[in-house]
Amino acid sequence: MNTQSNLQENIERLFEKWSLDIGKFSEDRQKIEYFRKELPVILKDTAFFIDILEKITKGNPFPDIRRSSLFENEVILFLNASRLFSFRFAIYEPGEYTIVHDHSSWGVFGTVFGPLEVIKYQRLDDGSVDHYAKLSETGRLLLDPTDTDFTLPLDKGIHSIGNPTDQLILTSSIYGNPLRRLFINSFDLKSERMYPIYPPKIKKKRQAQQALKILRSNS
Ligand SMILES: [Fe+2]
Repeated sequence: MNTQSNLQENIERLFEKWSLDIGKFSEDRQKIEYFRKELPVILKDTAFFIDILEKITKGNPFPDIRRSSLFENEVILFLNASRLFSFRFAIYEPGEYTIVHDHSSWGVFGTVFGPLEVIKYQRLDDGSVDHYAKLSETGRLLLDPTDTDFTLPLDKGIHSIGNPTDQLILTSSIYGNPLRRLFINSFDLKSERMYPIYPPKIKKKRQAQQALKILRSNS
């Protein structure tokens, strides 16, 4: 059985390996392919997530739940020094979905427990009118634990993800080097409006306690 220090060492070694490997790839497609193979290794690692959730519930300085993120339910666990990638996790309440949004980078994501629904959109307008965006849905999928999906930057990756169940779900994601943009775009399907979202402060401790309870009972 792993001790906590072993867990920390193992994960740091893994992030170092990712940092070295990802530097070899020039194209986003290669990086996405690489992380779609690597992410499931962590998604299966219940001990790692129990350790992280325990640290949060105990008020440990790592991970820093005050660290600002664009999504209030998201915790950043690792940011590569050259910003080649970041590693995060997020907890979704029953029925909780993100707004429809784009990203400033590619991303790979999956779930630790509970299914994650992904709803994808394409943009039908040409982007010439400020704050206007007409979208149509292009597909939906349900990720089971350790399945992964990916997203692309800007208009190629407009989506909403969320929890279609009546229990918490725990997801994890890796995002690439972001474009020089301080916001993501959010889309209102009914009004066909598009507006920027900037990083807010977050509240995560209570959710971590609930997710920890479920994860412990499943392990
Ligand atoms: Fe997203």
